[in-house]
Amino acid sequence: MNKVLLDRYIGVGNQTQNFNRHAARKRAEAMSLTKTEISTRTRSLSVIIPTFNESQNITKILDIVSSCLPLAANAEIIVVDDNSPDGTGKIAEEYARRARTTGTCEIRIINRKDEKGLSSAILTGIRASTGESVVVMDSDFSHPPETIAKMIEEMKRSDCDIVVASRYVEGGSITGWPFKRKLISRGATKIAQRSLGIKIKDPMSGFFAFRRHIIRNISFDAIGYKILLEILVKARGAKVREIPYNFTDRKSGKSKLDRTVISDYVKSVWKLYRYGKPEKERRTSVRFLSKAGRFYTVGASGLLVNYLVSFLFGAVFSNLWYIYATMIGIVFSMTSNFVLNKLWTFEDRNTTAKRTLVQYITFLAFSSIGAIFQLGMVYLLVGTEHMSYALSLFVSVAIASIGNFILNKKWTFKEKVWS
Ligand code: GDD
Ligand code: MN
Repeated sequence: MNKVLLDRYIGVGNQTQNFNRHAARKRAEAMSLTKTEISTRTRSLSVIIPTFNESQNITKILDIVSSCLPLAANAEIIVVDDNSPDGTGKIAEEYARRARTTGTCEIRIINRKDEKGLSSAILTGIRASTGESVVVMDSDFSHPPETIAKMIEEMKRSDCDIVVASRYVEGGSITGWPFKRKLISRGATKIAQRSLGIKIKDPMSGFFAFRRHIIRNISFDAIGYKILLEILVKARGAKVREIPYNFTDRKSGKSKLDRTVISDYVKSVWKLYRYGKPEKERRTSVRFLSKAGRFYTVGASGLLVNYLVSFLFGAVFSNLWYIYATMIGIVFSMTSNFVLNKLWTFEDRNTTAKRTLVQYITFLAFSSIGAIFQLGMVYLLVGTEHMSYALSLFVSVAIASIGNFILNKKWTFKEKVWS
């Protein structure tokens, strides 16, 4: 390797805090010896670094990570930036260009213009990468780059498929997080372990390594920021190990985790919980009866709501005419019936305002028609057929509710009647 290149290479290293000049020289020399050899070697390692507004960290982290990667691995680093307004992507591209001549490993930058989100950024990086093993890590020095080598070492030593750098095994720790954040992290970890049957101590880690083949057949949801959790659930047979590390909260820049993180987390755990559960019942008869059963249950709950609300309003506003109290009860119960039927009976998760309003009005119309029909039936059965009131009521309620179920299924929730 020529002297200028060597000096430039060491110059890059100088910008970093714990970069050792001697190590850099040795590495550079080794590189000059093996460059041709390396280029023909298969790539055994890819490091994925997602970034968003990390202009203060990106250069340093690339310096240190590239200096930590074993030459023999013929490693690549893939930075996935989501069009950061602070120019992280540009800085990284500039760095990668320089590294092409002076660096020890290939650095590629993926600039995503239309997509956002940590998990999906990581997934983009994984898909673009070519190494046999993949390491995922943050760009803000929370994840110590020296641990990468330990993870790869552990993977080889124990011949496992996933190595998680863990804050919660013996020797692991967290520095710089307030009590609240620690508590949330612990809580979220417990939820994952209990509901998804995960055994490892830190399934929420953002720092992990895995062998590429274990994700070959996985179809990812990539919601929120817990991609490891998804891998752990979906790569069920994989052998997993944990090694300790010290998570240190960032010194520069800001955390990107905001309020949506919690709802994204709940969504992703719910999806993962359903994952692998037996397929939904396929027989039409069973599905039809199950929905009818739910519809009747909702109807019965409506009676209760109706009674309780009418009673409460009657009791609280003692001047209220009892007919008004009853009407209020009817409105409440119809509304609760509608909501339960939409979400539970017909499993309709599309809650856009317009669609829901149209459905609500249609539902109210059918309910009213049902009530009028029921009244007419009772009148006819008791008056002209001389049936007992109790039996007439039973028959008319049964017929009206079957009709109601079918009408709502077909017209309100737009399902085929027999489906
Ligand atoms: N491309 C991209 N897009 N990168 C992102 C995005 C995004 O939408 N959001 C965050 N990142 C990058 C950040 O630039 C950083 O490199 C890394 O992802 C982690 O983001 P932080 O904002 O620093 O997260 P944190 O420190 O609060 O959360 C950490 O702790 C969690 C454990 O509880 C991270 O290490 C998580 O990965 C980890 O799961
Ligand atoms: Mn961070």
